[in-house]
Amino acid sequence: MTSTLTVNDFARHFGIPEHDMPAACRELILGRDFRYRVMTGAERDAVILRVLKTLKADLEVSGPGRQPRWEAGWGENLKEFIASNYDPSMLVPKFVRRKEIIRLDGEFVLPESETFETDYVCVLRAWIFSRFFRGVGALYEFGVGSGHNLVEAAKYLPAAKLVGLDWAQVSKQILDELRLHCGINVEGHVFDLNKPDPSLQFEPGAGVLTIGTLEQIGGNFGPFIDFLLERKPKVCVHVETLYEVYDQDNLVDWLAAAYLEKRNYLRGFLARMRELEAERRIRIIDLRRTFGSFYHDGYTYLVWEPL
Ligand SMILES: C[S@@+](CC[C@H](N)C(=O)[O-])C[C@H]1O[C@@H](n2cnc3c(N)ncnc32)[C@H](O)[C@@H]1O
Repeated sequence: MTSTLTVNDFARHFGIPEHDMPAACRELILGRDFRYRVMTGAERDAVILRVLKTLKADLEVSGPGRQPRWEAGWGENLKEFIASNYDPSMLVPKFVRRKEIIRLDGEFVLPESETFETDYVCVLRAWIFSRFFRGVGALYEFGVGSGHNLVEAAKYLPAAKLVGLDWAQVSKQILDELRLHCGINVEGHVFDLNKPDPSLQFEPGAGVLTIGTLEQIGGNFGPFIDFLLERKPKVCVHVETLYEVYDQDNLVDWLAAAYLEKRNYLRGFLARMRELEAERRIRIIDLRRTFGSFYHDGYTYLVWEPL
């Protein structure tokens, strides 16, 4: 049976009544194809077997050794971006698989459209920019990659200075090209989350964003949290896989948690943020699970502010 995500479903994912859905999100939801089919029976078994086989295989783990991979990956996007005469659609990351099974509402589902994941991310970004970053003086995206999130941010936050940071040098090059050729008010810096640059200061009223970035630093999130606490941005949003939200007694969740363990993805971050909240050093504003790609829920978001 085919279902489709409605405005009401997105409102449920974002924890708001349907009538509070911003018009920009509503338009995106109604304009894209969000049909899908839940995997059941033998199809579901095949999905689970595929995950279990992956968990048994040798997988690359996150950590400093992966920097050259990112450099090369974003380098490909840069080449295509230039060859297309600076078409920002060439900046969509290649790790977003088209026509792949995803995780939705506790199930494995097969989307009808090849661009379901990217389309959901467009709605999610529109939501985050309009709900949490409205009025920020500057937006800092850490682990900015190809810069495609900042291209979108420019539409929703026209007055904000946009700053992209990544340990890949090529990310800075892409942002330089975006400024020169696409008229986007963006600047780039090389920045290693493992050793945050103490000379980097924030503009007043700063917003901080990470999307799929903290997963890459495994358990070494301490230096970055300290860096943020010292700079006191107005608001921080992390769209990340969060180990602590997975229910170890639920099969679909357990598989995701096992995948995070296998790849040395982010673990302990949410627990640390909760500790900081208990110490009254931060306030957690929101935590929502939305959906995930095949192996884990990379689009859970946590919103917090330093106190
Ligand atoms: C999965 S990609 C996400 C990129 C982008 N946020 C997006 O949504 O497409 C992870 C990004 O984090 C960056 N990254 C990984 N480890 C890092 C580190 N230690 N310091 C800075 N950036 C890092 C990678 O270079 C890559 O651009």
